[in-house]
Parts: sequence; C-alpha cells; structure tokens
Amino acid sequence: MKKNENEFALKADDFGEDFKWGVSTAAYQIEGAYDKHDKKASIWDTFTTKKGKIYSGHHGKIATDFYHNYQQDIDLMQRMNIKNFRFSLSWARLIPDGVGKKSSHGVAFYNKVINYCLQCGITPWVTLYHWDLPQKLQDKGGWTNRSIIQWFQEYAEFCALQFGDRVKNWMVLNEPMVFTGAGYFLGVHAPGKKGMRHFIPAIHHATLCQAVGGRTLRSHVKNAYIGTTFSCSYIQAFSTHKKDILAANRANALLNRLFIEPALGLGYPTEDIAALKRITSYIMPGDDKKVIFNFDFIGVQVYTREIVKYSWWTPYLKAKLVKATDRNVATTLMDWEVYPPSICKMIEQFNAYKGVGDIIITENGSAFTDRVLNEKVYDPKRLSYLQAHLKQLRKAQILGSQVKGYFVWTFTDNFEWAEGYYPRFGLVYVDFKTQKRIIKTSGKWFANFLKSK
Ligand code: BGC
Repeated sequence: MKKNENEFALKADDFGEDFKWGVSTAAYQIEGAYDKHDKKASIWDTFTTKKGKIYSGHHGKIATDFYHNYQQDIDLMQRMNIKNFRFSLSWARLIPDGVGKKSSHGVAFYNKVINYCLQCGITPWVTLYHWDLPQKLQDKGGWTNRSIIQWFQEYAEFCALQFGDRVKNWMVLNEPMVFTGAGYFLGVHAPGKKGMRHFIPAIHHATLCQAVGGRTLRSHVKNAYIGTTFSCSYIQAFSTHKKDILAANRANALLNRLFIEPALGLGYPTEDIAALKRITSYIMPGDDKKVIFNFDFIGVQVYTREIVKYSWWTPYLKAKLVKATDRNVATTLMDWEVYPPSICKMIEQFNAYKGVGDIIITENGSAFTDRVLNEKVYDPKRLSYLQAHLKQLRKAQILGSQVKGYFVWTFTDNFEWAEGYYPRFGLVYVDFKTQKRIIKTSGKWFANFLKSK
C-alpha cells in the first residue's frame, strides 16, 4: 500500500539529541500589567491609543496577563514537555525612562519568571528587545537617534548583570527589519513614523546595537550562547523576465540580507538597493568594524514565501510583493501563503554564509480561526502547518545545515500587533475574557511529539 503522504513519521529524536525544542513569546504581546508599579509606557502602549492603528482598537494593557499568570503558563509548558521558553524583557519595566533609574519591581518580576522556569526544568531564552522601546527614548528620536547606542548598551549591561548568572541563552534584537520597516518607514507599527529619513538612520543604529548588545552580553555573561533574530521569507520572481528577477533580488537584499551582512563584515547590500546608499551619511568612521559581531547562533524566523514583481510605481525598491490572496494558494489568517519549503530554503540561505554558526528557528507558526467546542479546540490546519514545516526543517538538516533548534510561535494566543487579538497563533487557546487556557489539538500533538525525547 502506498504510504499516506500526510502521515508524519518523524520523531523529536530524529532532529538530534541536543536539538532545542521550545516556544517563543514577546513581552508586549503577553505580559499586560502595562502600568504596574513604576513601569512606564513603551512605544506600543502609546501607539495602541492612536485611532485606527490597531484592529478594533485592541491594545496590550492586559493581553494574556502573563505578568500574573506566569506560573500557570510555565506549569502548562512543563505539562506539554516543552523544555525551552523564549520570552523578551520589557525595557520600560526594567528601566522605566529607558536610561537611569532601574526598577526593582521589574527585576523582581523577571527573577520570578526565570527562577520558576529553572525550577520546572525549563531553560529560559531571553530576547533583549522585541519592539517595545520606552516611550521616553522615542521622545528623543528612538532608533533614529545615535544615542540609542549608549542607551541600549546600558540596558543590555543591566540585564546581563541581573540575569546572566542564570540565563545563558540570549538574543539581542527581534527582527530589526520589521521594527525599522513597519515602525519607521511604513508607519503601521509603533512608533508610527514614515519615510526614508526615519528608516535609514533606524537601520544603521539597529545594526550597531545588534553588535553592541552581543559584545555587552559576551563580556558580562559567563558561558553565554548569544544570537539575534531575523525575519525572512524565501523570495521568488513572478516570472523569468529580467526585470522581475532583478526586482526579486532587490527584495531579497532588503528583507533577508540587510541586517545579517553587516554583522558578518560584508557591509550593507547597497549594490542591490541603490536607495540604501544614503545610509553612508549616518556611518561614522569605525562603524564598519563596530557593526561586526560573531554570533554563536542566528535566529531564523520564517512564516511564508514571497513572490516579487517589478513595479515602476513602488518608490526606492521598484519591486512589489504579489499578494498570496491573488495567487490562489492556501493562506493563513494573516493572508500569508502556506509554503513549507520556505523554511528549508531560508535555513540553507543563512547556512551558506561563511561565519554563520548555528541556526535556530526562533519562530515559525500560523494563525487560523479557532473555535471552542465542548472545551476543546480542534485546529487541524495549524497542526498540518507545523508538521509540514518540521519535515522541511529535517530536510535542511539532511542537506547539511547546522540547524540546532525549533521554537513554535507561539505558546498561547496573544496580542498580534496591528492585527490585535484577531489572529490566533497559539498552541494554547486563550479566552481573553476569562484568561482560561485550553490546549489546542496542535498543542496536544506537539506535547506528544516531544514526549519521545
Ligand atoms: C514577530 C512576532 C509576531 C509574529 C507573527 C514575528 O514577526 O517576531 O512578534 O507575532 O511574527 O506575526
């Protein structure tokens, strides 16, 4: 009998004995407690109050109330055999004004989370910056102000000294392309700035902070395993016409190469994107060296692929993404194409760089409509998305890539930025009115899959 193609025959052990399996989250998307004790506003607290920016006026004031529910959630992780938990620190909870006075309440909260993880046999993986810049720093220009290098260094050092005795796995920035592109060019994410005059300096300062953060962690944390994370999508040209192929190359340079290449000493991909050349006016003598850092691992975050077409109308890039919804392909609730080979292709693309060590998939996941029926959430689409991506990840390993871990985005449903609470990405369903958690079918499957470890 022909083997059912949909059958999932892989075991967690097939990926390697030391392979890291986990779940990923981010402070603003789960914590809530937005003004608890001395915490001050982050740019997301501010941005969510602006009219028309977020789906249905949603905000992260309460979110999944992880601040108060952390024990329950970590218990649930333990029950689901999840051994690695990635979360981010809220800068404005730890240093309310961004610089200067530190919050003992903020430190106490993260100490409780870290210690509880360790008590439950769960390894913490900490991201320093997952998009929630203290508003006070944004008032001084945020990522467009070169002083962010000192602000960020102070923050990174403080976190390293407070938590580095117990936290060994660190990520400096989460997806600089997204927080500079959506936040400082398109204006659809916090702080809502638009245009090249914001975007270009933000890119260079984020690239500098990426390396500064790495060096700061290296000098203060013994035996640290240091990475940073990148958003990426496999890019294909719409046709074989030269114009489309060149457009696809430019999109690849912008979306997949912009932040990794300077860190590796290769500089910015200005040859492919002429408009990026204006970044030179922000580059100071010595910066070409300062942006380099030898990361132990690169966090690769893949959700979909993009098809790219030449577009005379698109300023600067002259390229546009052909919407998945116009291509008659399967999509998620984010209108992103479901295209599992993208994860294998992106692992290979990053693995091909000389100087990239380990690769960890620090995010991969999907949003679909979930319905609760008799206290159960049956989510076959998320389950098959997960399995199909794991098959492609294993393929990348077989083809020789150094991929050492996989973290599902995300543990519980949460606040999905501009889309509010509408797209649910969790392995665990959250009723946002009661904060009740229900493990979805995909979550049960993942728990069972991890049991084989
Ligand atoms: C981000 C997450 C986000 C996820 C799904 C990534 O870009 O790091 O914060 O929720 O994708 O959109």
